Amino acid sequence: MRSFTFFFFFSTIVALALASTSDHVEAISQVVEIHRLRPQTGTAGYHVPQLDCLSWRLGVETNNLQDWKLVPSACENYVGHYMLGKQYRHDCEAVADAAIEYAKGLKLGGDGKDVWVFDIDETTLSNLPYYAGSDVAFGAIAFNSTRFNAWVMEGKAPAIPATLRLYKVVLSLGIKPVILTGTPEFTRQARITNLMKAGYTSWLKLILKGENDSPKSVVYKSSKRTELVKAGYRIVGNIGDQWTDLIGENAGSRTFKVPDPMYYIG
Ligand SMILES: *[C@@H]1O[C@H](CO)[C@@H](O)[C@H](O)[C@H]1NC(C)=O
Repeated sequence: MRSFTFFFFFSTIVALALASTSDHVEAISQVVEIHRLRPQTGTAGYHVPQLDCLSWRLGVETNNLQDWKLVPSACENYVGHYMLGKQYRHDCEAVADAAIEYAKGLKLGGDGKDVWVFDIDETTLSNLPYYAGSDVAFGAIAFNSTRFNAWVMEGKAPAIPATLRLYKVVLSLGIKPVILTGTPEFTRQARITNLMKAGYTSWLKLILKGENDSPKSVVYKSSKRTELVKAGYRIVGNIGDQWTDLIGENAGSRTFKVPDPMYYIG
């Protein structure tokens, strides 16, 4: 069963990394890193003496665990397997299925004021090619904003297929996408290029974090959503990987959480 973990994202990572020769060495090191991960049985997590990594991940997804800084080192392999294997993809598909069913059942205004809020990182786009790197280790090594922003500026993040599917349904129903991200305003052009390349081709608004916006994600995102509501828009749906995308004022009629066991944004 050697093939169990090498699915879509793995091939994407390799394809992306091989796309430019300057990244070749990094690609090789990523392959080595991924091969080092030993197969675990199914999706039952693997047990370490002090910490059950599946319980840890459940705590993360339910927001029982807050303000954590790093993936516990004992869970680096577990998180790597989860993210590169089929369970992460299946979990994202299940979120999209629920969101699509909900969206299709909505009674819309038909006045162009119904909007759906999409976060970018780990929601519409995946930074897994970056997070799989040995200097990031799926979030087991401290976040470095300089390096992360440099990756963002490359504009090479692949779409998360499940969210792209939801996005297309949202558009087809006449709900307008609003893309709301905590990445800084200076990355705007790279983000536009990346979103377009990944298949997200139109939106009502693309909102990035300006220098005067609150550094607290929940405050920033709430205030931008409140501006939308004050402008007469109805937020019928909201999808993000962080709880701070989905709580606070005007969170939306329904919220949908996609998994992210790699980092926590407070
Ligand atoms: C973050 O990465 C940059 C570029 O590689 C490096 O110069 C800097 O020292 C790193 N910062 C930390 C805190 O590790």
